[in-house]
Amino acid sequence: MKVKKILEKAYYENNLTKDEIKLLLIAEGEDKDLLFKTADRVRKEHIGDEVFLRGLIEFSSYCKNDCFYCGLRRSNLSAQRYRMQEDEIVEVAKRAYQMGYRTVVLQSGEDMYYTKDRLCSIIKKIKRVVDVAITLSIGERSYDEYKAFKDAGADRFLMRFETSNEKLYRKYHPGMSFENRIECLKWLKKLGYELGTGFLIGLPGQTLDDLAQDIILVKELDADMIGIGPFIPHPQTPLKDAKEGSVDLTLKSIAILRLLIPDANIPATTALGTLDPLGRQKGLMCGANIVMPNVNSLEYKLKYELYPGKICINEDATKCRGCIESIIVSLGRKVGQGKGQSRHYKRVS
Ligand code: 5AD
Ligand code: FES
Repeated sequence: MKVKKILEKAYYENNLTKDEIKLLLIAEGEDKDLLFKTADRVRKEHIGDEVFLRGLIEFSSYCKNDCFYCGLRRSNLSAQRYRMQEDEIVEVAKRAYQMGYRTVVLQSGEDMYYTKDRLCSIIKKIKRVVDVAITLSIGERSYDEYKAFKDAGADRFLMRFETSNEKLYRKYHPGMSFENRIECLKWLKKLGYELGTGFLIGLPGQTLDDLAQDIILVKELDADMIGIGPFIPHPQTPLKDAKEGSVDLTLKSIAILRLLIPDANIPATTALGTLDPLGRQKGLMCGANIVMPNVNSLEYKLKYELYPGKICINEDATKCRGCIESIIVSLGRKVGQGKGQSRHYKRVS
């Protein structure tokens, strides 16, 4: 009964206390079913049945950071590194467009080889040759750089805060600062980007209270896009022996955030599909409305190893798109047409 009341409140007020969020995170049986059903209904009411696809281009596997969980961390000397050059990135963006994508996500480690000028040039060139929305996912930069990328034509930006627990943040991100990351997210919002953020589920030491706080922080940052994925241990990292994150908690977090920000874009992440063969389908049934297939060639996909066992690695980009489209249709949904801007996004003038 309690959960039913909490869901009613979430439905009408799009707001919950930390304790209410925690009760939803531990819901089981009928209560859990009701959480997922309510989130699915809210998704349908606010954004309908379209599932938008984003073409993910991982353009550099170099990273200056050393995050404890990530296979691309600088101390991982066995990681294979590559950098795609401008023409190659533009070619892949063109190919993505021809396959039907209307958004490309340019993602990389934090790689300062891509200077402000280099990135601006890439963004402008893509915008000149194809009509796509460009999402950047390149980590922390200066205000001035973020502004230049926006002026060059970038539309959206994804950067998870990873965990809202500052102690854990410090432990797992040597040399980085939580405060700076949050400041970056605020700059991006102010600059008029469609803003995406989110967190990892199941970092060792993370409590239910932390997770509830992560959810609250996404709401406070007023995200237009929300990326949540389970932690998956990578053998060449300090967290290699840690337990993987829970699929169940990931699905519940997606559902709760759908209730708190009903018109946001929320992907069913690749990490979710990696831990559970039906993970993406389950995500799409409890609030998610986005999938982000990789459009790079096999050679690069193999080298961009954030975590092991990634799905679709051996599939050619065209086949993967076909596969994902049939998944969408099998769930009674439709492949989104157009750029699929977040309905939550309000342009700043
Ligand atoms: N398991 C799951 N997700 C990971 N990421 C990085 N390493 C891992 C891992 N081992 C996620 C981070 C980052 C995003 C690009 O990938 O949350 O923001
Ligand atoms: Fe990529 Fe199925 S979604 S191969």
